[in-house]
Amino acid sequence: MTGDADVDGFAPLRIKRVVRETADAVSLVLDVPERSSRRFRYQAGQFLTLRVNVGGQDVRRCYSMSSAPVEGELRITVKRDPGGLVSNWINDTAAEGDQIHAAPPEGRFVLRGDLSGATEVVAFAGGSGITPIMSLARAAVDDPDRRVRLFYANRARDSVIFADPLDRLVAEHGDRVLLHKHFDEDDGVVASAAIEAFIAPAGDAHYYVCGPGPFMDTVERTLLAAGVKESRVHLERFTVAAAAPSAIDQSGVAEEVVIELDRQSTTASYRKGDTLLQTVRSAGLRAPASCETGSCGTCMARVVEGSAHMLNNDALDDDEVEEGWVLTCQSLPTSRKVRINYE
Ligand SMILES: Cc1cc2nc3c(=O)[nH]c(=O)nc-3n(C[C@H](O)[C@H](O)[C@H](O)COP(=O)(O)OP(=O)(O)OC[C@H]3O[C@@H](n4cnc5c(N)ncnc54)[C@H](O)[C@@H]3O)c2cc1C
Ligand code: FES
Repeated sequence: MTGDADVDGFAPLRIKRVVRETADAVSLVLDVPERSSRRFRYQAGQFLTLRVNVGGQDVRRCYSMSSAPVEGELRITVKRDPGGLVSNWINDTAAEGDQIHAAPPEGRFVLRGDLSGATEVVAFAGGSGITPIMSLARAAVDDPDRRVRLFYANRARDSVIFADPLDRLVAEHGDRVLLHKHFDEDDGVVASAAIEAFIAPAGDAHYYVCGPGPFMDTVERTLLAAGVKESRVHLERFTVAAAAPSAIDQSGVAEEVVIELDRQSTTASYRKGDTLLQTVRSAGLRAPASCETGSCGTCMARVVEGSAHMLNNDALDDDEVEEGWVLTCQSLPTSRKVRINYE
């Protein structure tokens, strides 16, 4: 964890404090150098992309802020993924004073609705999915007119991240914060009935969901079935169900992609199976990108000629997709000729 300069938009942040949350989760409070402070302003619910070198390999991973700007610090919380490279490395080796490289905050999992207060925040967190939800909840209670309902599911009591801070949040704002803890060890995995009961008394609300895939699917399905509008349901997925590039029909695909970037037009040869971002890089161009999982939107460009298929999209809304925007890190060309414009 060394190096001082900003490279490719990644800035070196110093680990100011390491907080052991549970046996499997650690929080890092990060110090942003003065020269990068503007770029690292964030909204509650956003994430950082870290670039770390583990065993000689440069890898990137996204981690949501568990702090809110109102707390005056930048904190991420990392839970071990069994067999995972970066999460275990951070849990095992991160130490106060170390440097870690991060790209500035990104993400659209932020508070929506009437920001002057009236809209209720109804949040569902499963396991480490509490990270951005904690950030949203802290930001929301800062507004005295806002109410928060939080459904927090964990397998067991000893795996609960932020047990004490959440209890404090309730103690301090009990009239506006309702916390429901669900433990699989007592009640089995979360089922639709529990979600329905929880949302029944909710008023004019936006709904935020983050946790393991099956948990998120159950919550999303239940909310939509209960009549909640899709535009009111906000999802943050930590893992993406990988669509195999081979499942996409690229039989008639072009051999070239034309890239309009920084007012220059470049023609790159296309190698079947590559994403648009990989194609841009193979042409020696430096295009914007951050998470490379389809979550942040940094790599978006517009397809102005031809077509492309996105393997995953957790960043663009329907209108943007209709206007031709794609996430280049997730897009495979599907037409003979493709021209993209970063605008
Ligand atoms: C927007 C966003 C925000 C996020 N926020 C957070 C957060 O706040 N906190 C948090 O803890 N995480 C968060 N994540 C998840 C995080 O980015 C990482 O994905 C997570 O830490 C796992 O990374 P890893 O390097 O430890 O695991 P990886 O090495 O990427 O492995 C992931 C899993 O795949 C398995 N695996 C790896 N290679 C293979 C293989 N060859 N064959 C079969 N299985 C394999 C591993 O065993 C492991 O279970 C977020 C993700 C996104 C996209
Ligand atoms: S780099 Fe984040 S969506 Fe493509």
